[in-house]
Amino acid sequence: MPAKGEMLYEGKAKKIFLTDHPEQVIVEYKDDATAFNGQKKGQIAGKGEMNNRIASIFFKLLEAKGIPTHYIDTLSEREMLVKKVKILPLEVVVRNIAAGSLAKRIGWEEGTILPKTVVEFYYKNDDLGDPLVTPSHIDVLELATPEQLNVLESLARDINVYLKAFLSDKNLLLVDFKLEFGIDSDGNILLADEISPDTCRFWDADTREKLDKDRFRRDLGSVEEAYEEILRRLGGLTR
Ligand code: TMP
Repeated sequence: MPAKGEMLYEGKAKKIFLTDHPEQVIVEYKDDATAFNGQKKGQIAGKGEMNNRIASIFFKLLEAKGIPTHYIDTLSEREMLVKKVKILPLEVVVRNIAAGSLAKRIGWEEGTILPKTVVEFYYKNDDLGDPLVTPSHIDVLELATPEQLNVLESLARDINVYLKAFLSDKNLLLVDFKLEFGIDSDGNILLADEISPDTCRFWDADTREKLDKDRFRRDLGSVEEAYEEILRRLGGLTR
């Protein structure tokens, strides 16, 4: 087990620690939850542990499918060992069903199945409120090269195919999700950050019950129960 060093960074839902290995860091998942660019704050009891387990399951699945990720190992209830990367300041959002900001932006009712998968890019910038950006904006801001952007979109679409099929077996709809990517010391693009109910919309396929962070964002109640249900369906609930 690598030795945990000093904290490198604290985000809204995770802390990152250095280790005694220069190219590996430890991610510690927190129970803290925020929404609307940090304006709404709260805690979801047990979220750190549940998201660590859920994200581990997704990263292992994607690695097995040939997607390069930062995941190395799950160290403890809240800790994951990952490759150190430089995170690209972009959020890549993939959508299968209209919901949230897309439903508002294009005026389609939440729940409308999209005839084609939608991929969007957002500029990770808290001061600007993470705005939607076009490839041309990304180019002029030098957030990623056009070649890197093509790789990100292609990886995101592949990840969607793998996750959708996996979740469909668990009677879950993958409505949409957000990905972040990083560059490792060899220049490889790796899937980074997390994949969890914080960063995805999951609906029960029969009832369309929301089983994700929208329960917190929209004050729908039963937030912890929703995360636990996702973990249970993914086969990660050992209790
Ligand atoms: P949106 O409909 O609010 O744009 O969200 C799209 C998806 O991205 C949804 O699955 C939630 C996720 N998401 C994040 O992970 N972080 C964020 O800051 C936002 C706004 C959305």
